[in-house]
Amino acid sequence: MPSIFRSDLLKDKVALVTGGGTGIGRAIALAYAAHGADVVIASRNKEHLEPTAKEIAGFGRKGLALTMDVRKPEEVAAVVADVEREFGRLDLLVNNAAGNFIVPFEDMSANAWAAVTGIVLQGTFNVTKAATPLLKKGRDASVLAIVANYAWQPAPFVSHSGAAKSAVLSLMRSLSIEWAPLGIRANTLCPGPIETEGAGSRLWAMEGGRDRVIDSVPLRRFGTLEEMGEAALYIAAAKYMTGECLVVDGGQQWTLANWMR
Ligand code: COA
Ligand code: NAP
Repeated sequence: MPSIFRSDLLKDKVALVTGGGTGIGRAIALAYAAHGADVVIASRNKEHLEPTAKEIAGFGRKGLALTMDVRKPEEVAAVVADVEREFGRLDLLVNNAAGNFIVPFEDMSANAWAAVTGIVLQGTFNVTKAATPLLKKGRDASVLAIVANYAWQPAPFVSHSGAAKSAVLSLMRSLSIEWAPLGIRANTLCPGPIETEGAGSRLWAMEGGRDRVIDSVPLRRFGTLEEMGEAALYIAAAKYMTGECLVVDGGQQWTLANWMR
């Protein structure tokens, strides 16, 4: 399907997308590259980062695949140093990396809680904090974090993720005020259910899981990766939008989703 945006929408922008080698992060990285941005993608595993970086290069843009665990500040600092060496600034930061799995609270170990909140919340802090000096040098800079509609709804059986996503939503709203004088916008994007390998295998792989998800969505379908790419493009280009959460979830937020109960 042709893009609803001009192909030069993000011409010569520099973007960093965490978890940009798979799923929604990859879709955002490719959408940005297709609209003129150079894109750095970073996560733990080279295997999916390198093919995605080649796809970025296929749009005639620079695509850099760098490894880091967002929970490890020293690895994050090394990635940000590489971005600085290569580009000298950062215009678009996308905090997309996440971990999640279904676990009843009473069975959740301290490590399970720490793994998910460490990636989602502490990871968003680590990357955003390390990237701050480069964002300050950016052009119409913006930071975006990917949340989920249980950031404001209950999150039964994924309470670690719900707690972390709520906090990330709050952090982006706080930055929207603190960083407005610097000209840096801060927003969130809330996807509905999207059939990625990561989410599908962990969240609705149980018998009848997909049907229950679809039943919870008024538009009666999963969202597509292309729809997430377009929403992220809009946020990147919408210069008067800050402190906002763009919800692209087929209306699921209004159904008191809790389809897992
Ligand atoms: N149910 C209960 N506990 C689980 C679990 C599950 N399905 N999966 C992992 N855990 C627990 C582990 O048992 C461990 O706790 P313990 O030491 O008390 O046993 C803790 O979580 C950390 O697990 P580990 O495998 O060491 O973490 P990791 O850092 O290697 O991986 C995860 C992080 C667990 C979040 C992993 O699922 C991941 O890498 N996810 C990335 C992709 C993803 O989740 N995508 C979905 C996005 S919506
Ligand atoms: P995904 O493909 O599993 O994406 C998760 C990404 O995060 C992977 O690329 C992974 O790469 C990276 N990652 C995980 N742990 C990391 C770590 N410690 N350090 C660095 N990178 C790490 O799943 P997805 O569905 O596309 O999810 C993307 C985002 O959308 C997440 O924020 C998720 O919460 C959100 N979301 C998804 C849905 C959905 O239905 N799919 C709905 C709402 C919100 P490595 O393995 O290489 O590290």
